[in-house]
Amino acid sequence: MARKLLIEHADVQGIASYDVYRKHGGYASVEKALKTMSPDEVVEEVKKSGLRGRGGAGFPTGMKWSFLAKPEGVERHLVCNADESEPGTFKDRYLMEKLPHLLIEGMITSSYALGARRSYIYIRGEFMYVLRILEKAIAEAYANGMLGKNILGSGYDLDLVVTPGGGAYICGEETALLESLEGKRGNPRMKPPFPAVKGLWGNPTVVNNVESIAAVVPIVNEGGDAYAKIGIERSTGTKLISASGNLVRPGVYEIELGLSVEEFIYGDDYCRGIANGKKLKACIPGGSSVPILPHYLVTKTAAGTDRLMTYESLADGGFASGSMLGSGGFIVFDEDQCIVRNTWNFARFYAHESCGQCSPCREGTGWMEKVLYRLEHGTGTLEDISLLEEINKKIEGNTICPLGDAAAWPVAAAIRHFRDEFEWHVKSPQEAQSRNYGLIQAPLEA
Ligand SMILES: Cc1cc2nc3c(=O)[nH]c(=O)nc-3n(C[C@H](O)[C@H](O)[C@H](O)COP(=O)(O)O)c2cc1C
Repeated sequence: MARKLLIEHADVQGIASYDVYRKHGGYASVEKALKTMSPDEVVEEVKKSGLRGRGGAGFPTGMKWSFLAKPEGVERHLVCNADESEPGTFKDRYLMEKLPHLLIEGMITSSYALGARRSYIYIRGEFMYVLRILEKAIAEAYANGMLGKNILGSGYDLDLVVTPGGGAYICGEETALLESLEGKRGNPRMKPPFPAVKGLWGNPTVVNNVESIAAVVPIVNEGGDAYAKIGIERSTGTKLISASGNLVRPGVYEIELGLSVEEFIYGDDYCRGIANGKKLKACIPGGSSVPILPHYLVTKTAAGTDRLMTYESLADGGFASGSMLGSGGFIVFDEDQCIVRNTWNFARFYAHESCGQCSPCREGTGWMEKVLYRLEHGTGTLEDISLLEEINKKIEGNTICPLGDAAAWPVAAAIRHFRDEFEWHVKSPQEAQSRNYGLIQAPLEA
């Protein structure tokens, strides 16, 4: 069984309380960092660990931290991105609900490393009950001297604020998040300047995912080198995976990066195979915004090597025959699932969630949704399939933020790998519809 660095104690009775968390070794990284390490030494350990951002893009966390501008007399901030709205991704919610003090501990240690004295957790607005859990845990941390003035007698002061998000997927994009946190509409900002130079209230800011911040705890406790020994290549440490769809045992798993996809889907310690004895048809390994893989590319790469749960291996083959680890939202489709219907379902989500700032995304996501609707509902044409490819090209790379790409890539991949199924919907619409395909996500029909 793989080592768990984050959620080992998730099922301990009362672990969401300060006292129980502390009894299980909680806040050791704060003691170690504030009492025995300089902020730069903490940054150095995170660099050595090879930790890459767990929010989706996989940018090296230590490098991001070292870009933070430090002008004299200007406040800096750490902002935790807990907006988690990507379909298929639910690991941050799990972590915050079960182990709120782990996130708070990570926030304190990371804020110390960055020299931030007022940090924020921006949590998805729909997670109101999790916000209450965090508020309670933050109050306990203040009461026990882990937050506020002169933490553990170190002279370091930190205030931590948790605030609900604006109820939109776009608010998870880091600059839209900052706008929303400032009380404005959550529209992504033009970059540069990057948040590391001009972020929240114009101050240098680091935005990190919940899991990235939580991972700083074991990195400081055990050392960056020890963390880097777990995993392979440039995929170090452990990763939380949200597994959903037609699996015997869906759920949140902490895996060591480098595990084979085969073992993850079929292994006894993980998802235990496809539900109801069905066959695997396809898999989206990293949340709804990454390319879908057909069954023959899920456990093997195009070159025939084992596909591994790493940033590199899941991307092997580029977009022709690979995908991305993304946020770790691992969605599995069995043989009964309709790719056209699912592609339309996700396209509806992106059309709804486009902020409307950039024309290619605002118009393009709407068009893709309309055309996919036609194809799914038996009124599409073969030209519609080419039209989708055309719209895709017009969106990709032409928007301020990557939401446009996130909408375009899955459609392109679905057509690339399942063109026959799209054509079948045109040539035999009644048969295609009568197959009574289910939806992986809850139906969105009005
Ligand atoms: C439309 C959109 C939504 C996003 N949603 C989230 C989110 O909910 N949580 C998150 O951590 N990152 C999200 N991201 C990525 C963030 O912009 C950013 O890369 C991330 O918070 C950085 O943290 P990390 O380096 O620790 O991964 C989103 C990006 C886009 C384009």
